[in-house]
Formats: sequence, C-alpha cells, structure tokens
Amino acid sequence: MTNSETNKNRISVISIFPEYLAPLELSLIGKAREAGLLEIVVTDLRDFTTDIHRTVDDTPYGGGAGMVMMPTIWGEAIDQSAANSEAEIHDLVILTPAGELFTQAKAQEMSTCAHLIFACGRYEGIDQRVTDHYRSRPEFRVREVSIGDYVLNGGEAAALVMIEAIVRLIPGVIGNPASLEEESHTISEAQLPGALLEYPTYTKPPVWRELAVPEVLTSGNHGLIQKWRREMALARTRRIRGLTRE
Ligand code: ADE
Repeated sequence: MTNSETNKNRISVISIFPEYLAPLELSLIGKAREAGLLEIVVTDLRDFTTDIHRTVDDTPYGGGAGMVMMPTIWGEAIDQSAANSEAEIHDLVILTPAGELFTQAKAQEMSTCAHLIFACGRYEGIDQRVTDHYRSRPEFRVREVSIGDYVLNGGEAAALVMIEAIVRLIPGVIGNPASLEEESHTISEAQLPGALLEYPTYTKPPVWRELAVPEVLTSGNHGLIQKWRREMALARTRRIRGLTRE
C-alpha cells in the first residue's frame, strides 16, 4: 500500500538514543505531523532488552575491534514496529556507511512508502542476519542505506537527513509545490549526468557591501532572466561537478 492509498505516511525510527530524534518535532516536519499528514513514532531499542544492564551489543564473531548490535533485540523491535502499523508493506531502512548511497530519486521513491522503518545502528553496526532475515519476509522491503562516504557515530543523524529529504516530498507538506518542481535535484536518477545545480539567488538590498545584484535580475525581462539563470546553472555545474551534457 502506498501513501496515495492510505493518505497517511508512517515513519518509525528505532534507536538507542531516542532524544537524538527530537528535531522531528520542529519546523516543516513538526507541522506535517500536527496536520495529520504524517505519523512519526520513535522507539527506544533498549525497551526490547532482557537483561538488567539493557545490553544491545556483543563482541564480533571472528574477532576484531568494536561491538556488534545483537539481532535478537533488533528483531523484537522491528517486529513490534511492523505490528503497530496497518501497512501491508514495511520499508526497512538499515543505516550503514556500507549501504547504497541516498539520492533525491530515492527520497522521491521513499516519499510514497506507507511505512518506513529506520533502524539506526551504532558501534560496528547491526548483525547482518537482521538484513538477511527481513529480506526473506515478503511483507518487508529492506535497504541498507548510506547518506555519504564518511563514517558517523551512528545512524541517527543519517535518519534525520533522510526523513527531512523524504517528508518535504509528501503531497501537502510544502506550501508551494512549484518550488519543488524548480529545484535542480528533482530529477530522475537516469537524468543525473545532465542534471543542473541551482542558479544563484538574490534578494534585497540591491547593493550590499559594494556587491550589486546582477542587473539582468532587475530588468523585468523574463526571457533574459531565464536565459541568464540557465547559463549560471550550467557554469556552476561545470565548475563544481565537472562536464555537463551540453
Ligand atoms: N552510520 C554511520 N555512518 C553512516 C552513513 N554515512 N550513512 C548512514 N548511516 C551511517
């Protein structure tokens, strides 16, 4: 079931630091939740521990540094998160620097998911059998996802980044949907090599610290403005990302 059928997206986040997810109450995401466009449930992984120390990790088989998060605890947490949702399909996102790279195209795709579950790993990651087990269950779609080629202390910051990128694409969340269409990144992955970065933008005052706004923008000539913006976008793309198709 997609959100277009249910009209309500549900996002579950499972973490040993639920307080880390507090920003999900602010700004656009907070408003979308209040408006009933979106339901976000943050769960403390330690609620599923069974020992007095509330242990979530153990030493890695085969040796090596660091600790690995136990599949037993994760399994209980993910099962409960799925059981609490009415969705038929649960999209489980396991955050790891070893995952596929998150892109705008993936944000677009995920914005249509009825129930996204973000599993925020810490330490040396989550026992691989968690991914393997849920991949074998037809009611789950599992993705291991990285937000970039750098290593964070855990998946929480990555989940925040992804949720922000995803939620703003849910219909009704952004007041002016035209601003989404104009964005250079609203492109399919297939188009990526030819995608343009956004042109530079200006507002008042017309001169600031001896820097004037480019004259064309105050000319009132919309054709010229469009042409100039496209040239600027091309130049910026070439400079920052290398050659464009044109
Ligand atoms: N956990 C640690 N580093 C990460 C990254 N770059 N992306 C997603 N999850 C992570």
